Amino acid sequence: MTSSSTTLSLVDTDPAELAVDAIVIGLHSQTTDAAGPARAADFAGTLLLATGAESIAAAFDGRLTETLALLGATGGPGEVIKLATLGTVTAPLVVAVGLGPEPSGAAPAPETLRRAAAAAVRALAGAERVALTLPLPDDEDGPAALRATAEGALLGAYRFAGYKTRPQPTRRPPVAAITVHVPDAGDERAQAEISRAGVVARAVTRTRDWVNTAPNELRPPSFADSVATAAREAGLGVEVLDEQALAAGGYGGILAVGLGSEAPPRLVKLSYDPAIAAADGSVKRLALVGKGITFDTGGVSIKPAQGMWEMKSDMAGAAAVAATMLAIAELKPAVAVSAYLPMAENMPSATAYRPGDVVTMYNGKRVEVLNTDAEGRMVLGDAMARACEDGCDYLVETSTLTGGQVVALGKRVAGVMGSTDLCQRVQQAGDAAGEPTWPMPLPDDVRKGMDSEVADISQVNASMDRAGHMLQGGVFLREFVADEVPWAHIDIAGPSYHAGEPTGYWTKGGTGVPVRTLLELVDDIAANA
Ligand code: BES
Ligand code: MN
Ligand code: ZN
Repeated sequence: MTSSSTTLSLVDTDPAELAVDAIVIGLHSQTTDAAGPARAADFAGTLLLATGAESIAAAFDGRLTETLALLGATGGPGEVIKLATLGTVTAPLVVAVGLGPEPSGAAPAPETLRRAAAAAVRALAGAERVALTLPLPDDEDGPAALRATAEGALLGAYRFAGYKTRPQPTRRPPVAAITVHVPDAGDERAQAEISRAGVVARAVTRTRDWVNTAPNELRPPSFADSVATAAREAGLGVEVLDEQALAAGGYGGILAVGLGSEAPPRLVKLSYDPAIAAADGSVKRLALVGKGITFDTGGVSIKPAQGMWEMKSDMAGAAAVAATMLAIAELKPAVAVSAYLPMAENMPSATAYRPGDVVTMYNGKRVEVLNTDAEGRMVLGDAMARACEDGCDYLVETSTLTGGQVVALGKRVAGVMGSTDLCQRVQQAGDAAGEPTWPMPLPDDVRKGMDSEVADISQVNASMDRAGHMLQGGVFLREFVADEVPWAHIDIAGPSYHAGEPTGYWTKGGTGVPVRTLLELVDDIAANA
């Protein structure tokens, strides 16, 4: 496994003179008053070169937009048009990447830059060195634009190594070295953004690698080993509970789900303690919890065969949290962060848990199992209760929890449930990261529907009514959070995995959502408590 190791740097010299394999410029589409252009050359009026492309345009004697129009450019988002420069500038190739209409009086949104940088870098696979000169504002919005551009470029260069036994002659290797053109390459803030982007991109690509790994290669013991090894190398605290320790500790939910598999369950705890404690000792403690089902067959309540392979991504939450911790170890924020990763493989077998079982969870609550496919909340309930027992000021949990999330919000927008203030902060962090979330309620009637005949709560609606499916997950998890702890549950069933063709900075497979949201949230907590 493992992906590319693309490098990233800044440059402030004239893009027309850069000795690279390709220069990427931005191209806007604009509406004209004309009734509508009739021939290719007339389309030039609908194109607008973005800021940053000036010296390249000058080298083309003002004929660059016209040439791009002849090549069919529209400036639409995601469009990539390549143009051989034939000696006009030092680089042999100019690549115009579409940015859509120019926002009136403003620079493009960070997410526009993030996607465009990625689209260009993806289209340039095979090139070794690529420079980007995109419209980065030279004001207070500059750092966010640079951050987005750098992240997008690195994530667009991601490729999962895969398992092919022969090299694929038609598959070109990802871009090796990316340079971003800025007004002042020596600027400390710009340098800091570039190094942060490198750390963040490594966390996202590590998440993608774990998610994309075949499920026979990543079962709870090997996933736990892989996480623990990386965490130890990063200098994090590591504690791994194996099946004996889980039994001794009373982790009924994790054990129940793990019963069906020959590969026993694990609970991995990672911890980061900031050396730079705030002077008044008021460092906040954040607990992160991620669902680590290494494969979800549904268990005895087995899933249909169609699409079941995608359930190798059912550990995306744990992978994202683990990778976030590795990034935190490098970024060293002034927040104490602990991560709890319950890992199990949900299999049907003679030893599997079954509908009708009553399970005693880590916090002592008894749960009536009605559908073994609702396994995520069983392992998460234990991990969240343990996090609260250890003590924390905030608890954020993320999981590929329900198909209901995908039905309600689709494949891009995660659902967020929990304490109102913390949910808002998660949403803001996600917006800054280009990982949108939407708040969802935890209604009383949904909780009422989960009253069990025999136990404290049933695992899903007592008559298996799928109404408010995503909300049932959130309502269940709330039972395992200590009363005073602000918490948020982020359901990433849709956004954590991209089954379609590559688009923007999303490659096929794991996306790395919500690593960047969690890192933004950590910065928010460090800055504002
Ligand atoms: N891992 C699935 C949820 C899921 C569905 C993730 C689609 C990604 C894409 C989860 O364990 C599950 O099976 N949920 C059930 C819950 C039901 C049995 C209450 C579901 O969504 O149908
Ligand atoms: Mn399931
Ligand atoms: Zn699952």
